[in-house]
Amino acid sequence: MDKYEQVIELAKRRGFLWNSFELYGGTAGFYDYGPLGSTLKRRIEQIWREAYVIREGFMEIESPTIGIEDVFVASGHVGGFSDPLCECKDCGEAFRADHLVDKIVAVADALSDKELDNVITENNIKCPECQGELGKTYEFNLMFRTNIGPGNGRTGYMRPETAQGMFVNFLRLARFYREKLPFGATQIGKSYRNEISPRQGVIRLREFTQAEAEIFIDPNDKKHPEFSRFADKEVSLYSDDAQEREKVEKMTLGEAVENGTIAHEFLAYHIGLTDHFLQRIGITADKMRFRQHKKDEMAHYAIDCWDAEIETDRFGWVEVVGIADRTDYDLKAHAAISNTELSIYREYSEPRMVTQFVVKPDMGKLGPLFKSKAKDAANALKSLSREELEQENITIMVDGEAMTVPRDVVKFAEETVKISGENIIPHVIEPSYGIDRIFYATMEHAFEEEMVSGKEDSEEEKRIVMKLEKEVAPVQVAILPLLTREELIIPAKEIEKQMKDRGILVSYDDSGTIGRRYRRNDEIGTPYSITIDYDTLEDNTVTIRDRDSMKQVRTPVEGIADIVYEMIYGNRKFESAGQAL
Ligand code: ATP
Ligand code: GLY
Repeated sequence: MDKYEQVIELAKRRGFLWNSFELYGGTAGFYDYGPLGSTLKRRIEQIWREAYVIREGFMEIESPTIGIEDVFVASGHVGGFSDPLCECKDCGEAFRADHLVDKIVAVADALSDKELDNVITENNIKCPECQGELGKTYEFNLMFRTNIGPGNGRTGYMRPETAQGMFVNFLRLARFYREKLPFGATQIGKSYRNEISPRQGVIRLREFTQAEAEIFIDPNDKKHPEFSRFADKEVSLYSDDAQEREKVEKMTLGEAVENGTIAHEFLAYHIGLTDHFLQRIGITADKMRFRQHKKDEMAHYAIDCWDAEIETDRFGWVEVVGIADRTDYDLKAHAAISNTELSIYREYSEPRMVTQFVVKPDMGKLGPLFKSKAKDAANALKSLSREELEQENITIMVDGEAMTVPRDVVKFAEETVKISGENIIPHVIEPSYGIDRIFYATMEHAFEEEMVSGKEDSEEEKRIVMKLEKEVAPVQVAILPLLTREELIIPAKEIEKQMKDRGILVSYDDSGTIGRRYRRNDEIGTPYSITIDYDTLEDNTVTIRDRDSMKQVRTPVEGIADIVYEMIYGNRKFESAGQAL
């Protein structure tokens, strides 16, 4: 069993995660989170909220998971959100063509369909399932399409990213933030991609959770006001250049901006924040790196992108977060399709005198010529260049029709005017987190198998322990009365109540030997176990056991919930929780 199998076996057995629709044989790309899995996932999301919503101030919004066609035409997903698909001519199985050749070429997802076909033919690659011949590669759009309303309805799509919700709501968000850049908004929710062949468990799902922030910044000011927070943070960077040399480089984010490895402070700040978040939830620092996208693998909307990658046992380096500079791509695209200006008015500190080319259509002449369409004609004239306006006959498009008008219907000139501000289209920095991949990596990095002394001192036995960070562990405290006797149950239940009142999630467990109960809780990552025994009746103290060190302390019952709370969420050390045993 490799580590993936061990983690997934434990996840299924202990109620973290399993294939959806098991009752009907399941289907690839869908997973259910069980009682412990849902809790662990929520705790990861909550820490994300703390980092992005509370600390950064990027308020959360919630938009529909189904979007109308216009949105995804503008975003480019209808036209270009596809993966290369190639099917076996014999068994009909579908594969991602770039995945079939990714051991042969360095950046397989940068190849065109034709190039992929060439690599497949030259290397005589056959169907991995039946060794049959593979057909030609073609592009397969990953969006789930649906109808909105009965009958043929209106075409809709399940959103492939949560990001578009923030772009579509840009004007309302700008107003909410009083039109002051930078500002950001976030969304945690489901996204959907009809992945071609999801064979990697929760790493590649067809329905998954994203946590995304869209941060709108001034395109002329990519300095981050709080960059000093992360300037001295050392990170592992695998830049485009470093990939040529196959060498990950360690440097501080301050150095990376200074020597040009990272283009600007805003991107660097968000690499720092991602690194900070992933370590806080328990990702091992030396199994993390930031890899820059090569120019030819970049998404259609980005000019720069760094992926946070985590090393896993079975899948190697897996992208879990994409941190992209999306520029003004999305706002411009939505402005064009919706015919609405998506910009922010920025007032200058001092008014400026500017020479402008001014076009003044003569409505007195356009009225009789164009009647109700005179305003459209005037707008068409305003959109022409000086060169076009200087022609003998001026041609304009009105209502889809080309019309020729005499030159005297419009006056134009250069004028010097005083302006006090301008409309600018913000650029967007986007950290995009895949929560399911992070969930899996958190479990894998916490999973440990160790030999500990058994019942007989000379014996050793295997202990499986999930060394989850205390604040992400689903069950935070196990309450274990030594025996199922009323005199022990009463104080155990009192402690359980004390914990619940403090907001601590407990598991009350009174079945089996105390050793077995410890093991059970080690497996699910419960950081502390409290044992109630006969001494409790004498001196009102209990034993707290620390999951990682297996050390024990004796602590008074009174105030125990506060102590546990401080150990989980504060800086309190286990050693200070009571008298060492
Ligand atoms: P990949 O190259 O692995 O398909 P991607 O580049 O398409 O990923 P993005 O489009 O950048 O991924 O999506 C942002 C984040 O959403 C990713 O970093 C990842 O964590 C998550 N994600 C994307 N697709 C999936 C999926 N099918 N299942 C689970 N998580 C996903
Ligand atoms: N919003 C980035 C992505 O999902 O691709």
